[in-house]
Amino acid sequence: MADETSQLQDSSESTTVVVIGAGPAGLTVATLLQHSGIDCVVLERHSREHVAQRQRAGIVETRAVRMFDSWGLTDRVLGGVPYDGILEFRVDGRSHLVSDSDGSDGPSARLCPQQILVQKLTQTFLDGGGDLRFEAADVSPHDLTGDRPTVHYRTADGTTHAITCDFVAGCDGDHGVSRTAVPDGALTAHAFDHGIGWLTVLADAPPPAHPLLAVNARGFAAHFPRGPYASRYYLQCPPDDHPDAWPEARIWDALRTRLGDPALVCGPITDRETFRLRSLVHDPMQYGRLFLVGDAAHIVSPMGGKGMNLALYDADLLARAVRDFVRSDDDTALRTYSSRCLRRVWNDQEFSHWLTRTLHDAGDAAPFPRHLARARLDRLFNAPASARAFAELMTGLDPTGEAVISQEVPGNLFAHGGD
Ligand code: APR
Repeated sequence: MADETSQLQDSSESTTVVVIGAGPAGLTVATLLQHSGIDCVVLERHSREHVAQRQRAGIVETRAVRMFDSWGLTDRVLGGVPYDGILEFRVDGRSHLVSDSDGSDGPSARLCPQQILVQKLTQTFLDGGGDLRFEAADVSPHDLTGDRPTVHYRTADGTTHAITCDFVAGCDGDHGVSRTAVPDGALTAHAFDHGIGWLTVLADAPPPAHPLLAVNARGFAAHFPRGPYASRYYLQCPPDDHPDAWPEARIWDALRTRLGDPALVCGPITDRETFRLRSLVHDPMQYGRLFLVGDAAHIVSPMGGKGMNLALYDADLLARAVRDFVRSDDDTALRTYSSRCLRRVWNDQEFSHWLTRTLHDAGDAAPFPRHLARARLDRLFNAPASARAFAELMTGLDPTGEAVISQEVPGNLFAHGGD
């Protein structure tokens, strides 16, 4: 680091929070801090155009909509259309509609593709005078267990900058630098490979009436809306399959068969990739003055749509915790940040795992697990208590995921990294 320090410029820069990464997690942390009157600087590796176009999740769950509502931000940051909460399960071509409505008052989930949320958060933060620096290269956090961490980065002209701060929000996804700045052994990684592959396809084709999950002996398939004339499809495939194994005709044939819809309207395919379903949790989600948020701390398999929603949950908790500390010198919420986030993380991991196993096993598994999975679906479709529990998990309003304030990190929080 000696060479780097000698080239530093602007080393006197200082802020309260440096946010690394401008995905849903980082932009939400930054916007909520700004809303609380707390200064922060966001460092993003890619360009604004790149970040604004990245397509991923599509549903902002009811709990997350109400979170934005509690900050008075719903109309500014959430685009898309209200979601009626109805999910279609199609088992061997037979339709079962399941509602996530729990009868509670208040705004409910939105069909809001991630790129729309990201674009709106970016605009809201910049309109409010936010400091968002795109194309920040070689971002590296230092002195995380000291009183004033520093984050270094390089601009396109080759100049290296340093920003000192009170806290670093590591919102740079699973392959970012925040977590790798933590010494080996300080965090425990809990990883799980589901042994399942998915082909994901984006196409300019009519969306389904309701998000659709289909069980079929040939394998799982799904169809989700991504706009007025855009759809995302998923097809279960061998874990290490290559997208080249899936020419267009094979994709539409497989979708028609597995969705049980011979008349499915196809359209130009704009993107296709394959990936393995995996889950990962890093514990604790904090090291000294670094707080991990969203994918930087955990990956949840896509079934159940919890990845982006967990990131929004973490972001809200962190922003409130920093606000308590700055306004009232109260570090209780910072101390409990990791344990409160992890309670919801494991709750949603379990839901996602349950749904993943159920919908895959009900299709092409051996007879015993297939019968078990179908019994679970039968319960979901026919037992009101099961349907209610499912609805609570879908909306994110389930009490088990809620924060508890009791599990404080012992000792000196900032010096010992929460161990
Ligand atoms: N320096 C600066 N920025 C970085 C770096 C780095 N070294 N590495 C990554 N980033 C940026 C990425 O370019 C990206 O914009 O951090 C951001 C991370 O965003 P996401 O990967 O979307 O992660 P997160 O914000 O936690 O999103 C949560 O939403 O749809 C889901 O799959 C998505 O589960 C994820 C979730």
